[in-house]
Amino acid sequence: GIAAAAGSHGTPHPLPGSAAAPISVKDLTERETGPADVSVRLVAAAGRVTIGAGLTVPGVTLNGSSPGPVIRATQGDVVEVTLVNESVPGGTTLHWHGLDVPNAEDGVAGVTQDAVHAGESHTYRFVARQAGTYWYHSHQVSHEQVRKGLLGAIVVAPKVAPAVAVTTDVVALSHTYAGKRTLNGRVGEQRVEARPGDRVRVRVVNTDAGVAPVWVSGTAYVLAAVDGTDVNAPTRVSDRAVVVPAGGRADLVVEVPASGAARVQMSGVSMVVGPAGSTAPTTSRPKKDVDLLTYGSPSTTAFDPSKPARTFAYSIGRKPGFVKGRPGVHWSINGKLWPNIPMFTVAEGDVVRMEILNRSNETHPMHLHGHHVLVLSRDGKAATGSPWWTDSLEVPVGARFEVAFVADNPGIWMDHCHNLPHAREGLVAHLAYE
Ligand code: C2O
Ligand code: CU
Repeated sequence: GIAAAAGSHGTPHPLPGSAAAPISVKDLTERETGPADVSVRLVAAAGRVTIGAGLTVPGVTLNGSSPGPVIRATQGDVVEVTLVNESVPGGTTLHWHGLDVPNAEDGVAGVTQDAVHAGESHTYRFVARQAGTYWYHSHQVSHEQVRKGLLGAIVVAPKVAPAVAVTTDVVALSHTYAGKRTLNGRVGEQRVEARPGDRVRVRVVNTDAGVAPVWVSGTAYVLAAVDGTDVNAPTRVSDRAVVVPAGGRADLVVEVPASGAARVQMSGVSMVVGPAGSTAPTTSRPKKDVDLLTYGSPSTTAFDPSKPARTFAYSIGRKPGFVKGRPGVHWSINGKLWPNIPMFTVAEGDVVRMEILNRSNETHPMHLHGHHVLVLSRDGKAATGSPWWTDSLEVPVGARFEVAFVADNPGIWMDHCHNLPHAREGLVAHLAYE
């Protein structure tokens, strides 16, 4: 595996996919048997989802609501989740988006398990190795079941207290139900009560198919983490939006101003953070975005991406042919159509370099299961900021990213577009260990 690097403010911070300090491999593997530290039962049912007072839409609920409950664990915890399918037609599963769990727990119907049909249940069990913000969602007919709300957030608290202490820690999960944007399953404005000077960590999760820009009015903020991984030495940001890709997460630390309140905004929804009765300004989206290629300060990554054992290209295009028996112009990967896309084959321990090119006419949020990748460059411009680890990378039309990762999690893993209708149309490849 890869070793620890300096995290925020110089404290040791384990890198994603890493088994390094402060938690050793031994701590993690020895505890997989025995009682779970966090045990959750999630009952999935087709029905109606309430997204506002008197406002319901058809969807799928978990324990009666959507999103499902926030699962909270501490790094190193054994997490056990029993999924009970009460009435979801066609079967369902749960995938732990961004958590590098063992392959058998990955929740991909048809790859790592069979779908759990109505009347059946399935128990997932894994060690929450990475601190940070993640989410879970169905990976069976996912373009439909995710849209209908079969999803929720999972938050893993660090074992060692973070250097930037916060007063309050909240989830801001964005999802669009039947064309209506919600935060934590509710339309409109939400309030989080906090006193002037309080620091609030707002964990933004984008569960939709397109990007979700987020910005803050009424105060400056810090982008503390991307896709679960802390940014090294983040600086204060004002007049900038953070563009959260489909499936991606961004943790913002917002300091409540001396008077009034702060407002965390996304298109159509917002979260007001401040004392009861306080008001916060509403602003339009800033003209500039935080550039993750340069944000934060570099720190060592302890694996050398300049000496890869394997090098791959993942080039997305369009090509005429047949997919699922249908003629048309379809998504292609390296010139091939689904399902005739060769697997990316690796051996355990390989340092892998991958070039991701978008030669199609639409943007693609690319998601690799079971691993986090380190962004090396975009369009030939090297990353110079904090090590940017991602599991959900927005690849705009014409863009070319270079990423690297360590193959440290054996199995068969999907590497697909998280605009889920695109995945359904065949924008899916697999990473396999030989
Ligand atoms: Cu969040 Cu393969 O998915
Ligand atoms: Cu796509």
